[in-house]
Amino acid sequence: MTTVGVLTGGGDCPGLNAVIRAVVRAGAKYGFDTIGIRDGWHGLVVGDVEPLTDYSVSGILPKGGTILGTSRTNPFKSEADIQRVRDNIRRFGIDALVAIGGEDTLGVANKLSKLGIPVVGVPKTIDNDVAATDYTFGFDTAISIVTEAIDRLHTTAESHHRVMVVEVMGRHAGWIATMAGIAGGADQILIPEIPFDLDEVTRHLQARHDKGKKFSIVVAAEGARPKGMEDAITQSDRVDEFGHATLGGIGIYLRDELEKRFGMEARVTVLGHVQRGGIPTAHDRVLATRFGVAAVELIKEKDFGKMVALRGNDIIAVPLEEAVAHLKTVDMDLYKIASIFYGG
Ligand code: F6P
Repeated sequence: MTTVGVLTGGGDCPGLNAVIRAVVRAGAKYGFDTIGIRDGWHGLVVGDVEPLTDYSVSGILPKGGTILGTSRTNPFKSEADIQRVRDNIRRFGIDALVAIGGEDTLGVANKLSKLGIPVVGVPKTIDNDVAATDYTFGFDTAISIVTEAIDRLHTTAESHHRVMVVEVMGRHAGWIATMAGIAGGADQILIPEIPFDLDEVTRHLQARHDKGKKFSIVVAAEGARPKGMEDAITQSDRVDEFGHATLGGIGIYLRDELEKRFGMEARVTVLGHVQRGGIPTAHDRVLATRFGVAAVELIKEKDFGKMVALRGNDIIAVPLEEAVAHLKTVDMDLYKIASIFYGG
């Protein structure tokens, strides 16, 4: 009998439950038992688990968030916690571990794999910044939400002749801003990968204004910053167990600067966690399901230390090491497409 442990770590995102369901159901076909580990790595440190059955995962496919809970716990912060993880894996008879997460969760999975723990990774994040996979699930849902918000902001921006600044998530990579900005017809997209020049942004808005367009939409990733500013704007000094600060504030900064420079009334909308909430799109449900089934196949083959990934339209397996080696930043060809529309 094989027992599979499954956990979700880091920020939640729509589609996590679809993976959990797929792992349980595909595993059952091979006679595997599945144990859900609560609140990410925290559950393995303290030994908080629950059995998952066909019945308990029924109806969760369209549900946002994660039925297992999540946390940003880093067990590698302490030797004692790593020992607890090992002890609990033995105690619950876990033969294989499925870690569903982004850069931090997969980083822990990679380190555990090097310690000899049989682990398989599944990439998730609304930020779409995990390397070695073309897309992560959650991202499509996030850009659909942001695109709808931009559409809605367009009508009110036009009525009031305003500049609307939309702050979206994206700590190190501006995928959400770029893709939703293109889909929503943004007049300027600001991303962490390219520090921006406020004079240039103002020039683009002015050019548009001169053509008779008396409103503009500026989409900014939370990690975007002007040239000369060393770090992204943060909400507080607090950092999580992986050393990440809580970003936020670039929208307000831009609203004030653009109002000053451009002379037009500006407003800011911070979309925040709305981008991560609610039901997954059909695309994310399918991708998450394919990832979950592929993770079980890796376990069946005892092919550990790998992450399932989307390459073109195929699901493949890549070494976890490759997935965590670097972050996948925005494709500059894609960003160039977005910038063709600036000043229009
Ligand atoms: O998981 C990714 C992410 O959504 C980032 O885009 C964002 O910076 C961060 O999580 C927010 O984290 P929290 O939910 O802890 O505020």
